[in-house]
Amino acid sequence: MTKPNTVTSLTALRGLENVVAGSTRICTVDGREGHLIYSGYEIRELAEHASFAEAVYLLWHAELPTAQELGSFCARLVSEMRLPSQVIEMIKLAPPSAHPMDLLRTAVSALAMYDPETEDRSTDACDRKSVRLLAQTITIVADMHRIRTGQPVLSADLEMSLAANFLYMLRGQVPTPEELAAFELLLMLHLEHGFNASTFATRVTASTLSSMHAALTSGLGTLRGKLHGGANERALDIFEQVDNADLIEEYIDGMLNEGKRIMGFGHRVYKVEDPRARLLRDHARTLCHRAGMADLEAIATRIESVVLDRKGIYPNVDFYSAIVQHALGLPKPYFTAIFACARTAGWLAHIREQYEDNRLIRPTSEYIGPLNKTAKPISQR
Ligand code: COA
Repeated sequence: MTKPNTVTSLTALRGLENVVAGSTRICTVDGREGHLIYSGYEIRELAEHASFAEAVYLLWHAELPTAQELGSFCARLVSEMRLPSQVIEMIKLAPPSAHPMDLLRTAVSALAMYDPETEDRSTDACDRKSVRLLAQTITIVADMHRIRTGQPVLSADLEMSLAANFLYMLRGQVPTPEELAAFELLLMLHLEHGFNASTFATRVTASTLSSMHAALTSGLGTLRGKLHGGANERALDIFEQVDNADLIEEYIDGMLNEGKRIMGFGHRVYKVEDPRARLLRDHARTLCHRAGMADLEAIATRIESVVLDRKGIYPNVDFYSAIVQHALGLPKPYFTAIFACARTAGWLAHIREQYEDNRLIRPTSEYIGPLNKTAKPISQR
């Protein structure tokens, strides 16, 4: 048999930039013009006229709900927020040093063992599991914080929305209308973003006909990294290290001279300002003023102008998400986990779309290793 000289003539595209890896009806991003569209609706429209739960309904059903549909959808979501007691025990047993994203990923994976419909991929079962998984994911994050800070876990209030319950169950206070408006928007903006790394990971897992729980676990592991969802926690670092807008220029120049990245800036797809950052900026301002953190806003504005001047790049959603979450009194180690709860709804939409018209996702690679080596017996190596 002849030995190969070359294996393939294919060339890999680094980071799969601009590679079309599938079709979707769920979302599209126009990075050159700065448009983000959920199921046909520009994100600006939804931010103005819809809540987080309405946007979730849209992604799962391809239509915005009527008032009656929304009422029963919200009631279903809030009534599914209870966790199996074994999962609560698992949260209690986790080392206090474990990152919330690691514990969230482990707990979501564990839910598969307690869900009677884990292996059922029928449309109805997937609908029921979507409601359950979104609601339970939020409770895991809220309960985790309460347990780790020695506070009692709180039950959902059936009179409040999913987003309001999330804030209430985590902080123990019913949010003000201003806080709730900012948090509803924050969750809506984190809900979905096309074929990003974590969504692609969930679709790859779903394409093997593995469970929704397994696919979400892949998404959570992928979102955790600091180049993806983990950026919002790191974005707050600057504010902790520099508390004076006059020192920002020197600080940013120092970071860039050392070849470091400014977290919360730049984007693979957006070449103009991230529309999500634009929508969150005003809420960040209002909340900072209300919380007596006006200096934070001045520093943020300064960071934006210096980074734009030096690198020509804009803040992404994580920059303002970090500021809004901080102003809401949410703890920094939970920023990515809170993002993950919202994105869970987007992942669930993609998992269902993948199941509905599935073909195993199995790409190929450009081989750049050696060829024609001869294997010697171990005694001669
Ligand atoms: N800080 C400083 N420089 C940055 C930067 C940042 N946050 N983001 C991109 N750049 C620079 C790169 O250094 C590079 O500059 P060069 O051409 O002079 O070498 C150029 O912009 C292109 O960067 P590249 O890494 O090719 O872009 P990418 O598309 O692979 O990366 C991100 C996209 C998101 C990974 C990148 O912008 C980043 O690391 N941002 C910080 C993390 C973050 O906020 N992630 C959340 C995204 S929503």
